[in-house]
Amino acid sequence: MKEIQINSSAIIYEDLSELSKEDFDLMQHAIEARKKAYAPYSKFNVGAALLLHNGKVITGNNQESAAYPSGMCAERVAIWKAGSEFPDMIVKKIAITAASSETKVNKPVGPCGACRQTLSEYEINQKQPIEIIFMGEIGQIIKTESLLSLLPFSFDSSYL
Ligand code: THU
Repeated sequence: MKEIQINSSAIIYEDLSELSKEDFDLMQHAIEARKKAYAPYSKFNVGAALLLHNGKVITGNNQESAAYPSGMCAERVAIWKAGSEFPDMIVKKIAITAASSETKVNKPVGPCGACRQTLSEYEINQKQPIEIIFMGEIGQIIKTESLLSLLPFSFDSSYL
């Protein structure tokens, strides 16, 4: 029997002005995408923006449905939109932001478990980490160096 350490680190920024220009610009794309979310049921609007290695930015936002489970998160809309258009893409980073018309979202909103799993497939396939930068509407911003650092002991195709 032995105990192991699971290490991952994150950077916490106090506000957007502390981000690098690249991260700041990508977050602006996520904010614009968030404003176009279709979330009439949860009223929780999420925007995501992917920066590809070739410099292209692909955005997505959550899309809900009156049949609630049929909706989809912003992150998966964005990654599938990108993957379907650019199957050989390398994703450098993803910025995520959430805002609600019911409450002020003032803490960073990380990707849900299903989105982490989905994004991890792309990170594994491209053999390069995807940085994740996430925030609410206001307040702190969190940045992690890779997707898998948010998903220890994850499931992948090697188990199949
Ligand atoms: N949502 C996202 O878009 N991304 C996440 O990572 C968490 C949740 C969406 C799904 C749903 O439309 C709304 O937020 C409330 O859960």
